[in-house]
Formats: sequence, C-alpha cells, structure tokens
Amino acid sequence: MRIGIYPGSFDPLTNGHLDITERAKKICDKLIIAVAKNSAKHPLFSVDERIGMLRECCKCENDQVEIASFEGLLVDFCRQKGVSFIIRGLRAIVDFEYEYAIALLNKTLAPEIETMFLLSKSEYSFISSNMVKEVAAYGGDITSLVPQFVHKKLREKYSR
Ligand code: PNS
Repeated sequence: MRIGIYPGSFDPLTNGHLDITERAKKICDKLIIAVAKNSAKHPLFSVDERIGMLRECCKCENDQVEIASFEGLLVDFCRQKGVSFIIRGLRAIVDFEYEYAIALLNKTLAPEIETMFLLSKSEYSFISSNMVKEVAAYGGDITSLVPQFVHKKLREKYSR
C-alpha cells in the first residue's frame, strides 16, 4: 500500500490546498493530510481549528484519507505512519528554492522517503495563506480564495 502525506501549516486552508488534496488522493492508496504544530510560527488558527477546517471542507475522511497533526520532524511522523512519499504543491518559481531545500533536507534525513511536487492550477498559483490573512484582516473580499467555511472563520477572527 502506497501511503502519501500532504503536510503543511494550513493556516488557513485555501482553495489551492483543496485542489492539491483532491489530486493527491488520486495518486496514493492512502493519503494523510497533516497539520504541522510548528512552534516557530505564530499561527492565526489553533491546530484544532485547522483540523476542523480540513474536516469540514474536504469532507473526505474515510478509509483512504486521514486528517492528522504532528509535532517534530516530518520524516519521523512519516516513518511512524509508514509513509513512502511526501506531496507538496508548487505554485510558482518562487516556491522552488524553499521546497527544494526542504525536499533535500528530508531526503538526507530519510533517504527512503520521496518528495513529489504537484503544480498548482494556474487559477490558484497566486494564493497563499499569508496573503489571504492579510486581505481578510483589512476587510477585503476573499470569497474566491478560500472555502466558505474558512471565510466564515476568518471573519470571526478579524471581527473581534
Ligand atoms: O505550509 P508550510 O508552512 O509551507 O509547511 C511547511 C512544513 C510544515 C511542511 C515544514 O515546515 C515541516 O515539515 N515542518 C516540520 C518540521 C520538520 O520536519 N522540519 C524539517 C524540514 S523543513
């Protein structure tokens, strides 16, 4: 059984992430969508909130898809879960340097685990969680960038 993992901060989930999730499901027997508990970043949404968004918006948790969170090294979590490949989305050339470094680092730490890149669809290639948060914070229209549920959660965060 080929188990793939789609890891990320998902702070918050965007339409670009959802598209990668749908396509990733087609290339592995089992897909783990994993939210990183990254202490170095200061996320807007808690891990539970981000997991809640994935559960609500993907509506895909079943025998084939698991939504999880992890702390520490991604490769350690992969080994624990029997993951054989990591899936990451590539939006544009600016992502490449960062993704290349992570992929090589993970390959050094765990040579048996491959990293695969899925190119973002062009209509999502400019969307990032950070930009979504900035636009939402200033009251801009993000309806075409994130699922409706995430839109609602962002409105709740910024209306306080
Ligand atoms: O959505 P992001 O923030 O670009 O995802 C980055 C993520 C979470 C995949 C990466 O930071 C990660 O794997 N963090 C876990 C810690 C780790 O394994 N670090 C070594 C590789 S950077």
